[in-house]
Amino acid sequence: MLRIQWHWKGCYVGVLDGRVAIVTGGGRGIGASISKLFGAEGAAVVINDLGGNADGTGSDAAPAQQVADEIAAAGGQAVADGGDIGEVATGERLVRTAVEQFGKLDVLVNVAGILRDRMIFNLSEADWDVVIRVHLRGHYVTARPAAAYFREQRNPDGHYRIINFTSISGLDGSPGQPNYAAAKMGIVGLTYSLAQGLARYGVTANAIAPGAATRLTATVPVGKRVSRAEPTDDDDAERSPDNIAPVALYLASERSDWLTGRVISAAGFDVGLYANPQIIRQLSAPEPWDYDRLAQHMERSFRPVADGLPPSLFASQLGRLRPCRGRHLTPGPLAQAGRRAAQDLLDAVAEVGVGPAPDAAEHRHPPLDVALGCAGRAQARDVVLVGLVREADRRA
Ligand SMILES: NC(=O)c1ccc[n+]([C@@H]2O[C@H](COP(=O)([O-])OP(=O)(O)OC[C@H]3O[C@@H](n4cnc5c(N)ncnc54)[C@H](O)[C@@H]3O)[C@@H](O)[C@H]2O)c1
Repeated sequence: MLRIQWHWKGCYVGVLDGRVAIVTGGGRGIGASISKLFGAEGAAVVINDLGGNADGTGSDAAPAQQVADEIAAAGGQAVADGGDIGEVATGERLVRTAVEQFGKLDVLVNVAGILRDRMIFNLSEADWDVVIRVHLRGHYVTARPAAAYFREQRNPDGHYRIINFTSISGLDGSPGQPNYAAAKMGIVGLTYSLAQGLARYGVTANAIAPGAATRLTATVPVGKRVSRAEPTDDDDAERSPDNIAPVALYLASERSDWLTGRVISAAGFDVGLYANPQIIRQLSAPEPWDYDRLAQHMERSFRPVADGLPPSLFASQLGRLRPCRGRHLTPGPLAQAGRRAAQDLLDAVAEVGVGPAPDAAEHRHPPLDVALGCAGRAQARDVVLVGLVREADRRA
C-alpha cells in the first residue's frame, strides 16, 4: 500500500490525520483500497458495504468488517456497516455513526456499485431500476444527510469533501450498459449541482472516473472492455485498484480546496481532467426559427464540428453501426474501406432484410453512408452486422 506522509516536528503526520471519512462500497475493490489508504493516512473511516454479488443480489457483512479489522490491526480507526446504500436509513446511519463514534464528518466517498449489463432492447425494468437505485439513489442517500451536516457546521473553511464515482461507460456511451451509463451520468450532474450548491458551506464535490481490475470489471466480457483486455502478470500492478486511492486521497485532503465540480479520470498510472460540457456553437435569431432556415444553419454551423468529434472509446464495439455517419467516417476504418467494400456491405445489409435504404441523394458518401444508415437502424441484428462490417474491412 502506497503511504504518503509529511514530516512535521519529528513526527510523521498522515495526509488525513484527524479527519473522518465515510466510504460506501468500502469492503472490496476500489472502495477497499481507498478505505485502507485513508486509514493509513490517519483518517477514521466508516466503511459501508452490503457485501453482495456484482449484480446486486445477496449480502455479506464480512467484506466491510474485514477491511475495518485490517485498518484497526495496522493501528488506525475504522467501523464497519453492512447496510444497503439504496436505503435512506443507511445514509442517515452512516453520518450518525461518523459523528457519534469519531466526533465529526469531513469526507464522504460514494463508491458502492453493481452491474446488470444488457443492450437497451433487452433491458428489463428490474435491471434498470436496481442499477439506478444502487448508483444514483445511493449517492443521494449519503449526500443528503452529509450535506445537511456540513451546512449545520456553519464553517466555510471546513474543507469538507464529497467524492463521487462515475464511469467512462456514461462519459463515452457504453452501448451494452444503458442503465449504468445513465446512472453514472446522473452522478456527474449531481456532482456539478453539489459543487455549486454547497460551496458556501466549505464543501467541494468532484467525481472520479476510474479504471481498475476488480470483480466488477471481471464480469464484463473481454471484447466489451475499453481498456486493455485480460490483465497479465505484467500489468497487474498497473490495473490495481490501489492506483485509484491516491487520487481519492488528494481530493479528500485539505489541500484540494481549489478543485470542485470536476470529473477526474484515474486508470493505471494516468490521471486526467475532463472538460465540463459547454456550448461550442450557437445560433441566435431575433424571431422563432423556421424549419428550413434552422436546418440550413445547423448543418452549416454545427455539422463540421459534430463530424470532427473524436470517436467514442466504445466505437470498436458497435460505433461503426451508428447512424451518426460523419463521426465514424473520418478517419475510421470504414472510411478507408472504399466504395467497393461499402457496396458489398450495403448488398449484405439488404440481404439480411434490414429495411429500405435511406435516400442516397441525402448522403455525402453514398453508398458508404447509406450502408451505415441501414446498419444504424438495425441494432437488433448487431451481431450479424458487426460481422458484415468486419468482412467489409477485411476486403478493403
Ligand atoms: N473497476 C473499474 O474499472 C470501474 C470503472 C468505472 C467505474 N467504476 C465504479 O467504481 C466503483 C467501485 O467499483 P469496483 O470496480 O471497485 O467494484 P467492486 O464490485 O469491487 O466494489 C463495489 C462494492 O460496492 C458494494 N455494493 C454494491 N451494492 C451495494 C449496496 N447496495 N450497498 C452497499 N454496498 C454495495 C459491493 O459489495 C462491493 O464491495 C463503482 O461505483 C463502479 O461503478 C469502476
